[in-house]
Amino acid sequence: MKFSTALSFASIVSSAAMASALPQVNHGHQHKRAVAVKYVYETVVVDGNGKTLTPALAEATNVNEIPVATATVNADKKAVSAAATTATTATTLAPTTTSAKTTSTVAPAQSKASSVAPQASTAAASSSSSSSSSSSNGIYGDLASFSGPSSKFEDGTIACDQFPSGQGVISVDWVGGNGWSGIENTDTSTGGSCKEGSYCSYACQPGMSKTQWPSEQPADGRSVGGLLCKNGFLYRSNTNTDYLCEWGVEAADVVSELSQGVAICRTDYPGTENMVIPTYVEAGNTLPLTVVDQDSYYTWRGLKTSAQYYVNNAGVSVEDGCVWGTDGSGVGNWAPLNFGAGSTNGISYLSLIPNPNNKSPLNFNVKIVAADDNSQVDGNCYYENGSFVGGEDGCTVAVRSGKAKFVLYN
Ligand SMILES: *[C@@H]1O[C@H](CO)[C@@H](O)[C@H](O)[C@H]1NC(C)=O
Repeated sequence: MKFSTALSFASIVSSAAMASALPQVNHGHQHKRAVAVKYVYETVVVDGNGKTLTPALAEATNVNEIPVATATVNADKKAVSAAATTATTATTLAPTTTSAKTTSTVAPAQSKASSVAPQASTAAASSSSSSSSSSSNGIYGDLASFSGPSSKFEDGTIACDQFPSGQGVISVDWVGGNGWSGIENTDTSTGGSCKEGSYCSYACQPGMSKTQWPSEQPADGRSVGGLLCKNGFLYRSNTNTDYLCEWGVEAADVVSELSQGVAICRTDYPGTENMVIPTYVEAGNTLPLTVVDQDSYYTWRGLKTSAQYYVNNAGVSVEDGCVWGTDGSGVGNWAPLNFGAGSTNGISYLSLIPNPNNKSPLNFNVKIVAADDNSQVDGNCYYENGSFVGGEDGCTVAVRSGKAKFVLYN
Protein backbone atom coordinates (compact mmCIF):
# COMPACT_ATOMS: atom_id res chain seq x y z
CA MET A 1 0.00 0.00 0.00
CA LYS A 2 1.23 3.42 -0.79
CA PHE A 3 -0.70 5.85 1.29
CA SER A 4 1.21 8.90 2.27
CA THR A 5 -0.01 12.09 3.65
CA ALA A 6 1.54 14.27 6.17
CA LEU A 7 1.03 17.05 8.42
CA SER A 8 2.38 18.82 11.32
CA PHE A 9 2.14 21.79 13.53
CA ALA A 10 4.74 23.75 15.30
CA SER A 11 4.65 26.89 17.27
CA ILE A 12 6.75 29.10 19.41
CA VAL A 13 5.51 30.42 22.70
CA SER A 14 7.53 33.06 24.46
CA SER A 15 11.20 32.31 24.02
CA ALA A 16 10.62 28.58 23.83
CA ALA A 17 10.09 26.93 20.50
CA MET A 18 7.79 23.98 20.53
CA ALA A 19 6.65 21.31 18.19
CA SER A 20 3.32 19.73 18.63
CA ALA A 21 1.11 17.45 16.78
CA LEU A 22 -1.98 18.97 15.30
CA PRO A 23 -2.80 17.05 12.20
CA GLN A 24 -5.13 18.94 9.92
CA VAL A 25 -5.07 16.78 6.87
CA ASN A 26 -7.98 14.78 5.68
CA HIS A 27 -6.55 11.35 5.39
CA GLY A 28 -9.56 10.26 3.45
CA HIS A 29 -10.27 7.44 5.78
CA GLN A 30 -11.00 6.94 9.40
CA HIS A 31 -9.40 4.81 11.98
CA LYS A 32 -12.37 3.11 13.50
CA ARG A 33 -10.92 -0.05 12.07
CA ALA A 34 -7.35 -1.10 12.28
CA VAL A 35 -6.22 -0.06 8.84
CA ALA A 36 -2.57 -0.35 8.00
CA VAL A 37 -1.72 2.93 6.37
CA LYS A 38 1.57 4.57 5.65
CA TYR A 39 2.02 8.16 6.73
CA VAL A 40 4.85 10.56 6.48
CA TYR A 41 4.93 13.29 9.07
CA GLU A 42 7.12 16.27 9.13
CA THR A 43 7.00 19.17 11.45
CA VAL A 44 7.62 22.47 9.74
CA VAL A 45 8.09 25.71 11.58
CA VAL A 46 7.23 28.83 9.66
CA ASP A 47 7.27 32.45 10.64
CA GLY A 48 4.41 34.91 10.36
CA ASN A 49 5.09 35.37 6.68
CA GLY A 50 4.98 31.68 5.97
CA LYS A 51 8.74 31.47 5.62
CA THR A 52 10.07 28.13 6.73
CA LEU A 53 12.39 28.32 9.69
CA THR A 54 14.74 25.66 10.89
CA PRO A 55 14.54 25.04 14.63
CA ALA A 56 17.76 26.99 15.03
CA LEU A 57 16.30 29.94 13.17
CA ALA A 58 13.08 29.63 15.08
CA GLU A 59 14.95 29.95 18.34
CA ALA A 60 16.55 33.11 17.05
CA THR A 61 13.35 34.92 16.12
CA ASN A 62 11.80 37.68 18.14
CA VAL A 63 10.79 36.23 21.47
CA ASN A 64 7.74 38.46 21.52
CA GLU A 65 6.30 36.71 18.54
CA ILE A 66 4.38 33.52 18.68
CA PRO A 67 4.42 32.01 15.22
CA VAL A 68 1.90 29.26 14.93
CA ALA A 69 2.20 27.22 11.84
CA THR A 70 0.57 24.35 10.18
CA ALA A 71 2.02 22.83 7.12
CA THR A 72 1.30 19.94 4.91
CA VAL A 73 3.98 18.01 3.19
CA ASN A 74 3.65 15.24 0.70
CA ALA A 75 5.51 11.96 0.58
CA ASP A 76 8.57 13.69 -0.81
CA LYS A 77 8.49 16.15 2.10
CA LYS A 78 7.65 19.01 -0.20
CA ALA A 79 5.55 21.57 1.50
CA VAL A 80 2.31 21.83 -0.40
CA SER A 81 0.46 24.22 1.81
CA ALA A 82 0.95 26.08 4.99
CA ALA A 83 -1.00 28.34 7.25
CA ALA A 84 0.74 30.67 9.56
CA THR A 85 -0.33 33.02 12.28
CA THR A 86 1.85 35.33 14.26
CA ALA A 87 0.90 36.27 17.73
CA THR A 88 1.82 39.51 19.32
CA THR A 89 3.43 39.80 22.68
CA ALA A 90 4.10 37.71 25.69
CA THR A 91 1.84 39.94 27.72
CA THR A 92 -1.33 39.85 25.66
CA LEU A 93 -0.51 36.63 23.84
CA ALA A 94 -3.16 37.43 21.32
CA PRO A 95 -2.48 35.90 17.93
CA THR A 96 -3.34 37.84 14.82
CA THR A 97 -3.50 36.16 11.50
CA THR A 98 -1.16 37.19 8.79
CA SER A 99 -2.17 34.48 6.45
CA ALA A 100 -4.48 31.59 6.88
CA LYS A 101 -4.99 29.03 4.23
CA THR A 102 -6.94 25.91 4.67
CA THR A 103 -4.67 22.96 4.67
CA SER A 104 -5.36 21.02 1.56
CA THR A 105 -5.58 17.35 1.20
CA VAL A 106 -2.61 15.47 -0.07
CA ALA A 107 -2.95 12.06 -1.61
CA PRO A 108 -6.18 11.00 0.02
CA ALA A 109 -5.71 7.52 1.30
CA GLN A 110 -8.36 5.05 0.35
CA SER A 111 -8.97 2.44 2.94
CA LYS A 112 -8.71 -0.95 1.43
CA ALA A 113 -10.28 -3.94 2.99
CA SER A 114 -7.21 -5.94 2.09
CA SER A 115 -5.01 -3.70 4.18
CA VAL A 116 -7.03 -4.23 7.30
CA ALA A 117 -4.86 -6.10 9.69
CA PRO A 118 -6.38 -8.89 11.69
CA GLN A 119 -7.84 -7.73 14.96
CA ALA A 120 -5.82 -8.84 17.92
CA SER A 121 -7.20 -11.90 19.61
CA THR A 122 -10.32 -11.43 21.64
CA ALA A 123 -12.18 -8.80 23.55
CA ALA A 124 -11.26 -10.62 26.73
CA ALA A 125 -7.64 -9.70 26.18
CA SER A 126 -8.18 -6.08 27.06
CA SER A 127 -9.33 -6.83 30.56
CA SER A 128 -6.50 -9.10 31.61
CA SER A 129 -3.50 -6.97 32.27
CA SER A 130 -0.60 -6.72 34.62
CA SER A 131 -1.60 -3.78 36.70
CA SER A 132 -4.69 -5.88 36.63
CA SER A 133 -6.59 -5.62 39.84
CA SER A 134 -7.11 -1.86 39.60
CA SER A 135 -10.56 -1.12 38.30
CA SER A 136 -10.14 0.68 35.01
CA ASN A 137 -12.98 3.22 35.32
CA GLY A 138 -13.14 3.35 31.53
CA ILE A 139 -11.93 6.49 29.81
CA TYR A 140 -11.60 8.37 33.11
CA GLY A 141 -8.88 6.09 34.44
CA ASP A 142 -8.22 4.47 37.78
CA LEU A 143 -6.19 7.18 39.54
CA ALA A 144 -7.49 10.06 41.64
CA SER A 145 -6.46 13.40 40.10
CA PHE A 146 -2.79 14.20 40.62
CA SER A 147 -2.11 11.16 42.76
CA GLY A 148 -0.14 8.04 41.84
CA PRO A 149 0.77 6.03 39.88
CA SER A 150 2.24 3.59 42.37
CA SER A 151 2.54 0.23 40.66
CA LYS A 152 5.57 -0.10 38.39
CA PHE A 153 5.34 -1.40 34.86
CA GLU A 154 7.29 -4.64 34.44
CA ASP A 155 9.01 -5.09 31.10
CA GLY A 156 8.58 -8.42 29.35
CA THR A 157 5.64 -9.63 31.39
CA ILE A 158 2.65 -8.58 29.33
CA ALA A 159 2.03 -10.21 25.96
CA CYS A 160 1.70 -7.88 23.00
CA ASP A 161 -1.91 -8.97 22.49
CA GLN A 162 -2.83 -7.73 25.98
CA PHE A 163 -3.56 -4.11 26.81
CA PRO A 164 -1.93 -2.74 29.98
CA SER A 165 -4.90 -0.83 31.47
CA GLY A 166 -4.59 0.81 34.85
CA GLN A 167 -2.13 3.09 36.64
CA GLY A 168 -3.47 5.89 34.46
CA VAL A 169 -3.48 3.93 31.19
CA ILE A 170 -6.91 3.88 29.55
CA SER A 171 -8.17 1.74 26.72
CA VAL A 172 -9.64 3.47 23.66
CA ASP A 173 -11.67 0.53 22.38
CA TRP A 174 -13.36 2.41 19.55
CA VAL A 175 -10.07 3.09 17.81
CA GLY A 176 -9.86 -0.52 16.79
CA GLY A 177 -6.50 -1.76 17.98
CA ASN A 178 -7.35 -3.72 21.15
CA GLY A 179 -7.34 -0.56 23.27
CA TRP A 180 -4.18 0.97 21.76
CA SER A 181 -4.30 4.57 20.58
CA GLY A 182 -2.00 3.88 17.65
CA ILE A 183 0.38 1.30 16.27
CA GLU A 184 3.56 2.16 14.36
CA ASN A 185 5.04 -0.77 12.54
CA THR A 186 8.58 -1.59 11.49
CA ASP A 187 7.74 -0.95 7.81
CA THR A 188 6.57 2.58 8.82
CA SER A 189 2.92 1.65 8.27
CA THR A 190 0.49 2.36 11.10
CA GLY A 191 -2.40 0.38 12.46
CA GLY A 192 -3.15 -3.28 12.86
CA SER A 193 -2.42 -5.26 15.97
CA CYS A 194 0.45 -4.69 18.38
CA LYS A 195 2.95 -6.98 16.78
CA GLU A 196 6.63 -7.81 16.77
CA GLY A 197 8.78 -4.70 16.41
CA SER A 198 5.85 -2.29 16.57
CA TYR A 199 5.54 0.69 18.89
CA CYS A 200 2.17 0.36 20.55
CA SER A 201 0.89 3.64 21.88
CA TYR A 202 -1.68 4.22 24.55
CA ALA A 203 -3.83 6.92 26.06
CA CYS A 204 -3.58 8.16 29.63
CA GLN A 205 -6.45 9.49 31.70
CA PRO A 206 -7.34 13.21 31.72
CA GLY A 207 -4.52 15.25 33.31
CA MET A 208 -1.84 12.72 32.37
CA SER A 209 0.50 12.05 29.43
CA LYS A 210 2.20 8.92 28.26
CA THR A 211 5.87 8.57 29.19
CA GLN A 212 6.98 6.16 26.53
CA TRP A 213 8.89 6.95 23.36
CA PRO A 214 12.36 5.99 22.19
CA SER A 215 15.07 8.62 22.48
CA GLU A 216 16.18 7.61 18.99
CA GLN A 217 13.55 8.95 16.61
CA PRO A 218 13.25 8.33 12.86
CA ALA A 219 15.26 10.67 10.65
CA ASP A 220 12.37 11.09 8.21
CA GLY A 221 10.39 13.45 10.41
CA ARG A 222 7.93 10.97 11.85
CA SER A 223 7.68 10.68 15.59
CA VAL A 224 7.43 7.34 17.32
CA GLY A 225 5.92 6.60 20.72
CA GLY A 226 4.54 3.84 22.89
CA LEU A 227 5.65 0.49 24.24
CA LEU A 228 7.84 -1.75 22.11
CA CYS A 229 6.61 -5.23 21.25
CA LYS A 230 9.65 -7.50 21.44
CA ASN A 231 9.77 -11.29 21.50
CA GLY A 232 6.03 -11.26 22.00
CA PHE A 233 6.04 -9.04 25.09
CA LEU A 234 5.73 -5.34 25.87
CA TYR A 235 8.78 -3.30 26.87
CA ARG A 236 9.24 0.31 27.85
CA SER A 237 10.88 2.40 25.16
CA ASN A 238 11.87 4.94 27.83
CA THR A 239 13.34 3.22 30.88
CA ASN A 240 13.95 6.52 32.68
CA THR A 241 10.55 6.01 34.25
CA ASP A 242 8.83 3.00 35.82
CA TYR A 243 5.35 4.25 35.01
CA LEU A 244 3.49 4.50 31.72
CA CYS A 245 1.63 7.73 32.53
CA GLU A 246 2.66 10.90 34.36
CA TRP A 247 0.70 13.91 35.56
CA GLY A 248 1.05 17.16 33.69
CA VAL A 249 1.05 20.58 35.35
CA GLU A 250 -2.04 21.18 37.45
CA ALA A 251 -3.02 24.38 35.70
CA ALA A 252 -6.23 23.72 33.77
CA ASP A 253 -9.68 22.23 34.24
CA VAL A 254 -12.52 21.95 31.79
CA VAL A 255 -15.77 23.00 33.44
CA SER A 256 -18.97 22.23 31.61
CA GLU A 257 -22.10 24.29 32.08
CA LEU A 258 -23.73 22.45 29.19
CA SER A 259 -26.54 19.93 29.14
CA GLN A 260 -24.72 17.59 26.76
CA GLY A 261 -21.31 15.91 26.83
CA VAL A 262 -18.31 17.25 24.92
CA ALA A 263 -15.59 15.07 23.40
CA ILE A 264 -12.22 16.84 23.60
CA CYS A 265 -9.66 14.74 21.80
CA ARG A 266 -5.91 15.02 22.18
CA THR A 267 -3.48 14.01 19.47
CA ASP A 268 -1.19 11.11 20.30
CA TYR A 269 2.26 12.62 20.06
CA PRO A 270 5.00 11.51 19.77
CA GLY A 271 3.33 8.84 17.74
CA THR A 272 0.68 8.52 15.06
CA GLU A 273 -0.95 11.88 15.88
CA ASN A 274 -4.28 10.06 16.02
CA MET A 275 -6.70 12.47 17.75
CA VAL A 276 -8.13 9.76 19.95
CA ILE A 277 -7.04 10.53 23.52
CA PRO A 278 -10.27 11.47 25.28
CA THR A 279 -11.18 14.16 27.74
CA TYR A 280 -14.91 13.55 27.59
CA VAL A 281 -16.64 16.08 29.78
CA GLU A 282 -20.13 15.02 30.64
CA ALA A 283 -22.91 17.59 31.11
CA GLY A 284 -22.19 19.77 34.13
CA ASN A 285 -18.94 17.99 35.02
CA THR A 286 -15.34 19.10 35.53
CA LEU A 287 -12.19 17.27 34.41
CA PRO A 288 -8.51 18.19 34.38
CA LEU A 289 -7.14 19.12 30.96
CA THR A 290 -3.60 17.84 30.53
CA VAL A 291 -1.06 20.66 30.46
CA VAL A 292 2.25 19.25 29.28
CA ASP A 293 5.38 20.21 31.20
CA GLN A 294 7.29 21.29 28.13
CA ASP A 295 10.60 21.53 29.96
CA SER A 296 10.67 17.80 30.64
CA TYR A 297 8.54 16.31 27.87
CA TYR A 298 9.36 15.07 24.38
CA THR A 299 11.30 17.41 22.14
CA TRP A 300 11.51 17.20 18.40
CA ARG A 301 14.75 18.58 16.98
CA GLY A 302 14.97 20.90 19.97
CA LEU A 303 11.35 22.00 19.79
CA LYS A 304 9.11 21.50 22.79
CA THR A 305 5.78 19.76 22.80
CA SER A 306 2.40 21.13 23.81
CA ALA A 307 -0.82 19.16 24.13
CA GLN A 308 -3.19 19.77 21.22
CA TYR A 309 -6.88 18.98 21.35
CA TYR A 310 -9.76 18.83 18.90
CA VAL A 311 -13.01 20.06 20.41
CA ASN A 312 -16.19 18.52 19.03
CA ASN A 313 -19.69 19.95 19.18
CA ALA A 314 -21.65 19.19 22.33
CA GLY A 315 -23.64 16.02 21.81
CA VAL A 316 -20.98 14.20 19.78
CA SER A 317 -20.03 10.98 21.56
CA VAL A 318 -16.45 10.10 22.36
CA GLU A 319 -16.59 7.20 19.91
CA ASP A 320 -17.80 9.49 17.11
CA GLY A 321 -15.63 12.48 18.04
CA CYS A 322 -12.24 11.08 19.02
CA VAL A 323 -11.38 9.64 15.62
CA TRP A 324 -9.98 10.75 12.30
CA GLY A 325 -12.94 12.45 10.69
CA THR A 326 -13.76 12.54 7.04
CA ASP A 327 -13.93 15.68 4.95
CA GLY A 328 -16.81 17.82 6.13
CA SER A 329 -17.80 15.44 8.92
CA GLY A 330 -17.22 18.12 11.57
CA VAL A 331 -15.72 15.58 13.98
CA GLY A 332 -12.21 14.59 15.03
CA ASN A 333 -9.65 16.48 12.94
CA TRP A 334 -12.64 18.27 11.34
CA ALA A 335 -14.01 19.51 14.67
CA PRO A 336 -14.65 23.27 14.87
CA LEU A 337 -12.11 24.25 17.52
CA ASN A 338 -8.71 23.33 18.98
CA PHE A 339 -7.28 23.76 22.47
CA GLY A 340 -3.57 23.99 23.15
CA ALA A 341 -1.90 23.55 26.56
CA GLY A 342 1.73 23.65 27.59
CA SER A 343 3.82 24.90 30.48
CA THR A 344 7.36 26.22 30.44
CA ASN A 345 9.45 28.09 33.00
CA GLY A 346 6.61 27.96 35.48
CA ILE A 347 4.01 29.59 33.22
CA SER A 348 1.23 27.64 31.55
CA TYR A 349 0.00 28.81 28.17
CA LEU A 350 -3.57 27.84 27.32
CA SER A 351 -5.03 28.55 23.90
CA LEU A 352 -8.20 28.50 21.87
CA ILE A 353 -7.20 27.89 18.26
CA PRO A 354 -9.35 27.85 15.13
CA ASN A 355 -9.22 24.64 13.11
CA PRO A 356 -8.57 25.60 9.48
CA ASN A 357 -10.41 22.42 8.46
CA ASN A 358 -13.70 23.71 9.80
CA LYS A 359 -14.94 27.29 9.78
CA SER A 360 -18.37 26.40 11.16
CA PRO A 361 -19.01 27.70 14.66
CA LEU A 362 -18.93 25.30 17.58
CA ASN A 363 -22.41 24.78 19.05
CA PHE A 364 -21.34 26.28 22.39
CA ASN A 365 -18.99 28.95 23.80
CA VAL A 366 -15.66 28.63 25.60
CA LYS A 367 -13.80 31.03 27.86
CA ILE A 368 -10.51 30.58 29.68
CA VAL A 369 -10.62 32.32 33.06
CA ALA A 370 -8.98 32.06 36.48
CA ALA A 371 -10.29 29.09 38.42
CA ASP A 372 -10.43 31.04 41.69
CA ASP A 373 -9.33 34.27 43.40
CA ASN A 374 -5.92 32.83 44.26
CA SER A 375 -5.03 32.20 40.62
CA GLN A 376 -3.33 34.70 38.38
CA VAL A 377 -4.30 34.31 34.75
CA ASP A 378 -3.17 36.98 32.27
CA GLY A 379 -5.01 37.55 29.04
CA ASN A 380 -8.54 37.72 27.78
CA CYS A 381 -9.57 34.69 25.79
CA TYR A 382 -13.15 33.84 24.79
CA TYR A 383 -14.80 32.06 21.94
CA GLU A 384 -18.39 33.26 21.65
CA ASN A 385 -20.91 32.77 18.89
CA GLY A 386 -18.18 31.36 16.69
CA SER A 387 -15.78 34.31 17.10
CA PHE A 388 -12.71 34.86 19.20
CA VAL A 389 -12.52 37.65 21.72
CA GLY A 390 -8.94 38.48 22.68
CA GLY A 391 -7.48 37.67 19.31
CA GLU A 392 -8.79 37.70 15.78
CA ASP A 393 -7.77 34.17 15.09
CA GLY A 394 -7.43 32.39 18.37
CA CYS A 395 -6.18 33.54 21.72
CA THR A 396 -3.93 32.50 24.59
CA VAL A 397 -3.78 33.14 28.31
CA ALA A 398 -0.79 32.76 30.62
CA VAL A 399 -1.37 31.08 33.96
CA ARG A 400 1.23 32.56 36.29
CA SER A 401 -0.04 30.98 39.47
CA GLY A 402 -2.85 28.66 40.43
CA LYS A 403 -5.17 27.35 37.81
CA ALA A 404 -7.39 28.37 34.92
CA LYS A 405 -10.60 26.82 33.73
CA PHE A 406 -11.91 26.32 30.24
CA VAL A 407 -15.60 27.04 30.80
CA LEU A 408 -17.97 25.47 28.26
CA TYR A 409 -21.20 27.49 28.21
CA ASN A 410 -24.18 28.47 26.14
C1 LIG B 1 -23.21 36.15 21.58
O1 LIG B 1 -24.61 36.07 21.47
C2 LIG B 1 -25.33 36.40 22.67
C3 LIG B 1 -26.80 36.18 22.43
O2 LIG B 1 -27.21 36.79 21.25
C4 LIG B 1 -25.00 37.82 23.08
O3 LIG B 1 -25.64 38.14 24.31
C5 LIG B 1 -23.50 37.97 23.26
O4 LIG B 1 -23.16 39.31 23.55
C6 LIG B 1 -22.76 37.53 22.00
N1 LIG B 1 -21.34 37.57 22.24
C7 LIG B 1 -20.49 38.24 21.47
C8 LIG B 1 -19.07 38.21 21.86
O5 LIG B 1 -20.84 38.84 20.47
